[in-house]
Amino acid sequence: MDSLIIEGPSKLSGIVDVSGSKNSALPLLFASILFDEKVTYENIPRLWDIESTLSLLRIMGCETEWDKESGRVSVFPSITQKEAPYEQVKKMRAGILALGPLVAKYGEAKVSLPGGCAIGARPVNYHIEALKKMGVTVEVEEGYIHATVKNKLVGAEIFFPEVTVTGTENLLYVAVMAEGTTLLQNAACEPEVVALGEFLKSCGAKISGLGTQTVTIQGSKLKSPAKPIAIPPDRIEAGTWISISLATRCPLELNHCDSSQMTSVLSAFRKMGAKIEELNQGTILKITPADKYLPLHIETAPYPGFPTDMQAQILTLLCLAEGRSTVVESIFENRFMHVAELQRLGAKIEVNGSIASIEGPIKFQGAPIMATDLRASACLVLAGLISKGTTRVSRIYHLDRGYQRLDEKLRRLGAKITRVAE
Ligand code: EPU
Repeated sequence: MDSLIIEGPSKLSGIVDVSGSKNSALPLLFASILFDEKVTYENIPRLWDIESTLSLLRIMGCETEWDKESGRVSVFPSITQKEAPYEQVKKMRAGILALGPLVAKYGEAKVSLPGGCAIGARPVNYHIEALKKMGVTVEVEEGYIHATVKNKLVGAEIFFPEVTVTGTENLLYVAVMAEGTTLLQNAACEPEVVALGEFLKSCGAKISGLGTQTVTIQGSKLKSPAKPIAIPPDRIEAGTWISISLATRCPLELNHCDSSQMTSVLSAFRKMGAKIEELNQGTILKITPADKYLPLHIETAPYPGFPTDMQAQILTLLCLAEGRSTVVESIFENRFMHVAELQRLGAKIEVNGSIASIEGPIKFQGAPIMATDLRASACLVLAGLISKGTTRVSRIYHLDRGYQRLDEKLRRLGAKITRVAE
């Protein structure tokens, strides 16, 4: 296990290339199971979650090729084993995305229940209930979901009681291959869901309403994709870089963005006092920090609301704002684990249930801290960059799951950050 040692406060300057989106790449890679021929991807980020996904696909019988420098991945979907074992799914919850494609293409799947995780219980009951409505027999035994199609997959009317991103993605895989029409109400509108739906449409799927809460899918035959699929830019990585620029008070320019997917995040940063210019049709963001920041009230919500995956980063930034801010975490019940670590650096934050009250401005002092989950890791690195003295962030394997070489990118911008083995 590695740690990061950061000497702060950091002075950064330069241009950052934002990588391909993790949460878009994962469902698109699992979609390869639906096809008979090779599927090729471009702009795949170099992350542990991608390693885990490709390793899972190989365990299931696929052949994979990954040119890490160019970001090109090919998957030959020669499935022989319709099982996603616990050993893989426990490393990466998104392994649950094997369920939909296996059921859709082969009529059977055995997928480990992901179990809990640091940010909450994260059950998958909505995925299971939706499959049952579409003609799938599902039994949960010995920690595994056993799904079998006894007759045929049929379209159905599905309502998700809460918006679920991977639940919507699993449903899309199944509905495009089912007989008849599926009407999905309270669908996730996240850009990653839209990217998956658009890809399936490019292969012949009939889907309408993508990006809205009501999605209609008509079952049809899919044809293998004719050309490589490019993974869209990572809106959460871009948002993390904006928080880094604003917190360190160093102007940065971000390349390869899609600002149209970042409206709520950009609006929050602008309300705090940041200047963010959207150039070249929103693919380039020019960030100009302010001397003083205004406090904010933020509530996380499904897209287009403020993303829970940006909560830890903005909460850290709000420690620098003049006055009291509040952050409400509405998606996950335990996503404030980073607060206790930030307190070790001097943050004045009180947590009451799902609400964090932040008193600012404070000056962070370096200390040893520990990463608890992916986005928490990013906020701790951010805090280390603005702390006076040495901050050691341990357990940064969480960070490597979802940020492509964050420490390398930071070093290139001038940060004093080193990776050491624990
Ligand atoms: N939920 C249920 N039952 C279900 C499904 C969801 O109760 O069957 C609840 C969850 O417990 C949670 C809420 O519904 O309280 C929303 O969960 P969702 O299913 O949307 O989360 P997810 O699909 O497991 C994806 C991202 C997460 C991101 C969330 C919310 C991927 C691979 N993961 O998770 O990303 O936080 O949506 O936007 O797309 C991250 O990248 O750091 C990350 C955690």
